[in-house]
Amino acid sequence: MPKLTVENVGTFDVPAGKRLVQALTQDAGTDQLHACGGVSRCTTCRVEFIEGEPEKMTEAEKETLRVREVTEPGVRLSCQIACDHDMSVRLISRLEGSGRKDQGGAVADEIQPAPQWTTK
Ligand code: FES
Repeated sequence: MPKLTVENVGTFDVPAGKRLVQALTQDAGTDQLHACGGVSRCTTCRVEFIEGEPEKMTEAEKETLRVREVTEPGVRLSCQIACDHDMSVRLISRLEGSGRKDQGGAVADEIQPAPQWTTK
């Protein structure tokens, strides 16, 4: 089982292949935002990688990061990442302090849209 470390929260065993956004909310119990419901539209699911940033990236994530001009190093969309190795992340987009009424729409178990894999 991959280990997910969330800065200032803890380290959690996560089922291999689980969506990172789901691991953050379900396994780590954080208030990570996911406004669009995990379909690579909103960027509120973004996290900053401390270690273990994946090399691979979905085409949808690549396009959304480009269009939304998200250029900070290590910042990725947790809805577009599968937990297939150990990762350490920093929460940078939480419900707390956001002014939003909830974390966002329901997130499917599988990465959406159906992933077309590329690299960063
Ligand atoms: S881009 Fe909206 S939840 Fe990931």
